[in-house]
Amino acid sequence: MQRGRFITLEGIEGAGKSSQIAPLAAYLCARGLEVVTTREPGGSPIGERLRAVLLDARNIAMSETAELLLMFAARAEHLDKTIRPALARGAWVLCDRFTDATYAYQGGGRGIDQAQIVLLETLVQGDLRPDLTLVFDLPPTLGLARARARSGQTDRFESETKQFFAAVRACYLKRAQAMPVRYRIIDATLELTRVTELIQTHVSDFLIDNARDA
Ligand code: TMP
Repeated sequence: MQRGRFITLEGIEGAGKSSQIAPLAAYLCARGLEVVTTREPGGSPIGERLRAVLLDARNIAMSETAELLLMFAARAEHLDKTIRPALARGAWVLCDRFTDATYAYQGGGRGIDQAQIVLLETLVQGDLRPDLTLVFDLPPTLGLARARARSGQTDRFESETKQFFAAVRACYLKRAQAMPVRYRIIDATLELTRVTELIQTHVSDFLIDNARDA
């Protein structure tokens, strides 16, 4: 049995990635693939409990190191309970955020040394990395306006400053430019339906490459 493929969706708040998961899943299901959609932090019973702690606006005083470790603790559970079993049975996993978010938010946003993230990434994931990462890109002013219009209450991350999100965005773009084989940058300022089409074009190319390599 060939291992399934692991696709991640990334971007700052309000980039629209969460709305694109269902159309992408439907697109892949229509091609006869088993698809598992999931998210981070979360994606497993313990991971979802850790998510609640991480996003709770009352935990404003959480230390940056605790935040980093909780992200990876949630990820370890997610990999063990959801992602690895799905990939092993041949399913395609679509994940709303993964370790690129740790590089972008805890690294770019909070300023944690990238070398520490690399260490935890190896500890928790071994050599597992996403096969394809879609980075939804848009200016923080637009993203934050969309996110705040959508939810009445802001979580611990949504209440961060524009400078914080500018650093997060810059980190995503830097990683995407440094590793163009794995990443595709999507212009998230476009209409929803246009974004859906762009994603399908990228994933269709990815399917063709996969079929060639199989
Ligand atoms: P969201 O999934 O609703 O966008 O919320 C998750 C929040 O968690 C988002 O603000 C980004 C943040 N986050 C990190 O800071 N580091 C991570 O590694 C992950 C997966 C998410």
